[in-house]
Amino acid sequence: MTVALGMPVVPTAHDPGPRPPVNELVDSFGRVARDLRISITEKCSLRCTYCMPAEGLPALPRDATLTAVEIARLVGIAARDLGVREVRFTGGEPLMRADLEEIIARSAAAAPGVLIAMTTNGLGLTRRAERLVSAGLHRINISLDTVDPQAFAALTRRDRLHDVLAGIQAARDAGLSPVKLNAVMAEETLAGAGDLLAWAVAERLHLRFIEQMPLDADGTWDRSRMVTAADLLAELSGRFTLTPVGRPDPTAPAEEWRVDDGPATVGVIASVTRAFCGDCDRTRLTAEGTVRSCLFGDDETDLRAALRSAADDAVIADLWRGAMWNKQAGHAMGAPSFARPLRSMGAIGG
Ligand code: 5AD
Ligand code: SF4
Repeated sequence: MTVALGMPVVPTAHDPGPRPPVNELVDSFGRVARDLRISITEKCSLRCTYCMPAEGLPALPRDATLTAVEIARLVGIAARDLGVREVRFTGGEPLMRADLEEIIARSAAAAPGVLIAMTTNGLGLTRRAERLVSAGLHRINISLDTVDPQAFAALTRRDRLHDVLAGIQAARDAGLSPVKLNAVMAEETLAGAGDLLAWAVAERLHLRFIEQMPLDADGTWDRSRMVTAADLLAELSGRFTLTPVGRPDPTAPAEEWRVDDGPATVGVIASVTRAFCGDCDRTRLTAEGTVRSCLFGDDETDLRAALRSAADDAVIADLWRGAMWNKQAGHAMGAPSFARPLRSMGAIGG
């Protein structure tokens, strides 16, 4: 952009303008959010180095996190008034909440017809998978970065690979299908990526590799050392024949590759090197009940205060619409001006 009269060129803040009177969660860049991610706790049973500090995140005060009743009310508003079609519970680790079954049951009742999913590390699923399905859980994504026990222990700072594998089996036994696996790429696990893929293909689990984002609590992420989608494909192509099949669902960020002769595919989510912000259809709630429209946007809108001050649903829905209208265009992770968000992944939810 040039400015007349030889003035210095200053980047101008985007002015979203007046919000149109529609029910849906629209933003000023033409996107519509239909996928709600809710972090229900910041606690976790693992300490993945790219997410949590070794000692965990500081505990929130007891009444800071939303209750099951509050979460279900927001899910109902999102589905009924705002056009949300899918709800995903995340964390931290959702299974850290003893009332997860109640959260799911109440949410399912408040939002009939909405797909209910969760992203989990799988620890404790052996005891709870069946009850979660009975409560209304439809889909599950389980985080697994390696099938090497030592590498798993180093990355997560806990020696629990065996329990995660048992959790994956429990999810399948409970009838959840497809079970998707999320693997965040890291230098320590790159050499084991082929073993992980071979295992997933043999087990008929759908694996997606994810580029690591600067959302680690320790702040050690470094663009120049990060494992990229290109690094991963180079590593895997020594062992598999990978044929690109594109992005079957334009709102799903994974690009798919057929493995050998198929039918299995592997997904690659290149959040950093091939950002997909233009197709983003997400709205997020933190465990403390703030709307966070973008992983990288620190401006948050407090719905908890509204919930607890007897505001009616219409007021809450409108606060949420306002938050979405002001959503930023995207992140600039590669740019020198990039500033890390204040919250880490364990506090926002993936
Ligand atoms: N970059 C990308 N993904 C991350 N996750 C946690 N931290 C990061 C990060 N820094 C993933 C987890 C899980 C989901 C909740 O988010 O592995 O799949
Ligand atoms: Fe826990 Fe998931 Fe973060 Fe790992 S990535 S520490 S499993 S919340």
